[in-house]
Amino acid sequence: MRNALIRLHIHAKGLLLLLRPHRWLGWAAHPLRFGANTLALSAWIARQRKGPDVPNDFHTFRRVHARRERLHEHVVQRLGLHDSPIDYLEFGVFDGRSFRWWLAHARHADSRFHGFDTFEGLPEQWGAFAKGDMAAAIPALDDPRGRFHKGLFQQTLLPFLRTAPFVEGRRKVVHLDADLYSSTLFVLTALGPYLRAGDVLLFDEFNVPNHEFAALQAFQAAWYVRTELLGAVNNHYQVALLVL
Ligand SMILES: C[S@@+](CC[C@H](N)C(=O)[O-])C[C@H]1O[C@@H](n2cnc3c(N)ncnc32)[C@H](O)[C@@H]1O
Repeated sequence: MRNALIRLHIHAKGLLLLLRPHRWLGWAAHPLRFGANTLALSAWIARQRKGPDVPNDFHTFRRVHARRERLHEHVVQRLGLHDSPIDYLEFGVFDGRSFRWWLAHARHADSRFHGFDTFEGLPEQWGAFAKGDMAAAIPALDDPRGRFHKGLFQQTLLPFLRTAPFVEGRRKVVHLDADLYSSTLFVLTALGPYLRAGDVLLFDEFNVPNHEFAALQAFQAAWYVRTELLGAVNNHYQVALLVL
């Protein structure tokens, strides 16, 4: 019986693909993916804790950009990052606003800050933003602890990792602010072998179902990396996760 059902399933799938369903249902691929990812995001949000040690403003009617810095300040305070050495990696630097914030708040002399960006804008369209939007000059820095890596992450990250940049036992703070699914998934999968318990993942456009959120889901499904919420603001637009 089981074998008959398996054979039926195989033949039905073959016949369905023979009908070239993409020709008449191709238009439905995006809404279906968006719907499935929205359901997964809703389930993810329902599982998250909230309390005095885990700030989480869900649900709020007001999105306030300054809350992002309050979330980052919470992470700095809770993990004592003001005065302990960290490796800070930012993917999506644009004009350097968040990069400078981290330089100013993680003050330990041995901390290192690496910013990655094309500085020529987004490599793909993202929602209302076109390919090439968010281009910016490489920000000037007066702090020798910071460095920028210009180019696509897909071209700069693996050579950077081959230089053995991390000190075992030193916490990594990875700030994922590239907006796109492809960019975020590439970075997470490339960093997979280097992530350790206690590292921090910051997301900046997390609750967009088909992008940063979907990239984290795909990464965790493949790498079995578990995380716990450190805090979230603006209805999970920005989230901070601790690697377990
Ligand atoms: C939202 S902006 C970053 C904002 C910045 N973190 C801040 O808060 O000030 C997103 C940036 O990601 C960069 N980006 C996206 N995908 C990339 C990729 N695959 N390689 C390099 N840069 C990328 C874009 O060039 C853009 O500057």
